[in-house]
Amino acid sequence: MTMYRPRRLRQGPIIRDLVAETRIDTNKLIMPYFVDEGGPARQPIDAMPGIDRVSLEELLMDVERDAALGVRSALLFGIPSARDEKATGAWAGDGIVQKAVRALRKNFPELLVITDVCLCEYTSHGHCGVVKDGKVLNDPTLDLLADTALSHARAGADMVAPSDMMDGRVAAIREVLDENGYTDTPIMSYAAKYASAFYGPFREAAGSAPQFGDRKTYQMDSRNAREAEKEVLLDIDEGADIVMVKPALAYLDIITRVRELTTLPVCAYNVSGEYSMVKAAAKAGYGDEAALVKEILTGIFRAGADMVISYHTRDVLAKGWW
Ligand code: PBG
Repeated sequence: MTMYRPRRLRQGPIIRDLVAETRIDTNKLIMPYFVDEGGPARQPIDAMPGIDRVSLEELLMDVERDAALGVRSALLFGIPSARDEKATGAWAGDGIVQKAVRALRKNFPELLVITDVCLCEYTSHGHCGVVKDGKVLNDPTLDLLADTALSHARAGADMVAPSDMMDGRVAAIREVLDENGYTDTPIMSYAAKYASAFYGPFREAAGSAPQFGDRKTYQMDSRNAREAEKEVLLDIDEGADIVMVKPALAYLDIITRVRELTTLPVCAYNVSGEYSMVKAAAKAGYGDEAALVKEILTGIFRAGADMVISYHTRDVLAKGWW
């Protein structure tokens, strides 16, 4: 007797493409940039080959080149020349991010400009909020975050992305944006942001490592998944338009849960340490970079992300890795 069984549909590349459920869509990638107010024109970040801290002039050159490759969305981080207790550089009208947003807006009207809203790059102690007696204070931080978001919107940001993880910051930002007429500026909230060792290279890049303690009192515990659902639902209640899971690779289950939890778009952040690992492995000859990057990004999309912030974006486009 003949046993009939379905074919596996892997006979060749064309049929494999036909049945593939997921693909990397380069329109869904967001490229991060570090703009440095007081540093040299270009300073490579040791742990992140290919990613530099750059002056405003160099940023415009990088973005011009990247836009020609097909980068359509940018996430902007600032490194101020001075840091203080009140994170003045974060919300100053002439802060480095505000200047950069205005310049990008003017030179690249088509580019979607997203700004990271946080205080840690701007505070003298490196924490994401106001500190008193060695403690990060949630509520006094909210006004500063709202001021920061407003200053970004005024400069022309298309979207603001609060990454601090203070409670109530999405509501605080929404209220201030609305009061000032920025009712159409969406908020992409870093909703489920874990306290992660994978942020190490970023903190080197941004000079934002906390000077005492850690971020475990405000960022999430990697052992918790239900708590991520709670954080996401809170942010949605407060008015988030896109919710983010961060990091991505050790949290693919969280991406899937959040995807199932909400109808809102879900963003995943393929963070600095995840990028560094791939670069280090490729450099050591332990893996093929193109194949690793493709597999990683595909996995993040397959888990349920609608969009991915990734430092690999430029390489993916420049080298046709999709
Ligand atoms: C600011 C912020 C961080 C990252 C994005 N926004 C650092 C942190 O929370 O310590 C990390 C990004 C990356 O690692 O690529 N709070």
